[in-house]
Amino acid sequence: MPVELDPAQRRDEVHALLKLIASSANDAVAIWERNAGSVPSLDEAKVDGRCASNTDLLRAVRLLEGASYQLCSTLSPTFLTLHTSTPVEAACLRVAVEAKIPGILADHPNGLHVTEIAKRIGLPSAKLSRILRILSVKHCFREGRFHLTTSHATNSLQRFGRAMTALRLGAVHELYPIGSLPANTTWCDVGGGMGGMLLPIAQTHPHIQLTLQDQPHVLEEAKDHFEQHCPTALRENRISFVPVDFLKGSPVPDQDFYYMRMIVHDWPDPACVQILTNIRKVMKPSSRLLIPHSTRNVEEYVLIDSVAEITDTGAGLPGAIDAPKPLPRNYGAGGIRPFIMDLNMMVLNNSRERSLGDIISLGNRAGLEFVKFWDCVEMSIVELKAT
Ligand SMILES: C[S@@+](CC[C@H](N)C(=O)[O-])C[C@H]1O[C@@H](n2cnc3c(N)ncnc32)[C@H](O)[C@@H]1O
Repeated sequence: MPVELDPAQRRDEVHALLKLIASSANDAVAIWERNAGSVPSLDEAKVDGRCASNTDLLRAVRLLEGASYQLCSTLSPTFLTLHTSTPVEAACLRVAVEAKIPGILADHPNGLHVTEIAKRIGLPSAKLSRILRILSVKHCFREGRFHLTTSHATNSLQRFGRAMTALRLGAVHELYPIGSLPANTTWCDVGGGMGGMLLPIAQTHPHIQLTLQDQPHVLEEAKDHFEQHCPTALRENRISFVPVDFLKGSPVPDQDFYYMRMIVHDWPDPACVQILTNIRKVMKPSSRLLIPHSTRNVEEYVLIDSVAEITDTGAGLPGAIDAPKPLPRNYGAGGIRPFIMDLNMMVLNNSRERSLGDIISLGNRAGLEFVKFWDCVEMSIVELKAT
């Protein structure tokens, strides 16, 4: 059974990982300097026979990679680490999710032997153990008897809905000054799914009048979700569930705020212009449309084309995207998620993540003008109003 660490032990473990990272990196530096004269450059192929196959270097790098990955997995929200899995890991995750292994392990806190799991799901245990091993080194499960450390299992619609609600990027209630909005401000989430973003607003800002709009079957899920997590919002009529087909019709009119997370990236340009036009039609002059862009959490990723682009919008965020040296300006692998999401969108929907400039230009085609860029690191918000 996995030993539950207390907070002080967890902190100690993080510090131990940091020490391992520092010592293994220092060892690797020393080995390079001793054997090849200097640390290699990022750009060169590291095939130097005196060093690249040096077993001490391989040991140091194995430790460095393991400790770095474990540290990131410990400190990062799960939805981030899942985003950066390789195709093989993704295939393994799919097996685990489709066979509902997290659900099976959730009922067995002491873990289950792989042969027992295999028996329950009707897969050959020799193959299953190879699959679970991959996931355990990536900290999805804990090996020994397999234990759960990450869970998602249900039918695919619920699974998608839950993943979206778990995606806390673009947590607009924390980033946008909702608390200071006047009582009875109206806020409509267009294509809001199960209410991943409206739920925290309902829980923390009872003075806001909310409307959740999506396809009818999704709204049924959303009502259950609210019933479970914020029944008072339902009892106090602080939230309405109104079906919409945003390609064909407009959301409810005259809202103070329209909010639309992870919608624009699902659609090609003409459909986006249609959706934005449908919203524009019902906006009053003071209405604002907020399009979050995430990154890590998960919203619409704003691909930053360049620092100049941000500066040109007048948003006043000089240097906001420049990573400290020696990282590349785009944060290297630390900035990969928007680009992975971009390819996901290409493969799944023939669509794409868009840069800030792209979003503004789509808005302009729909009669909307840029107001402000809210830099929220991995998730950012573009604020637009009717022209
Ligand atoms: C990627 S999810 C985003 C959900 C939510 N905005 C969030 O960020 O958690 C896309 C949502 O768009 C909804 N959707 C897709 N086509 C739609 C349409 N034609 N009209 C209304 N909603 C639609 C889906 O049901 C789904 O909830």
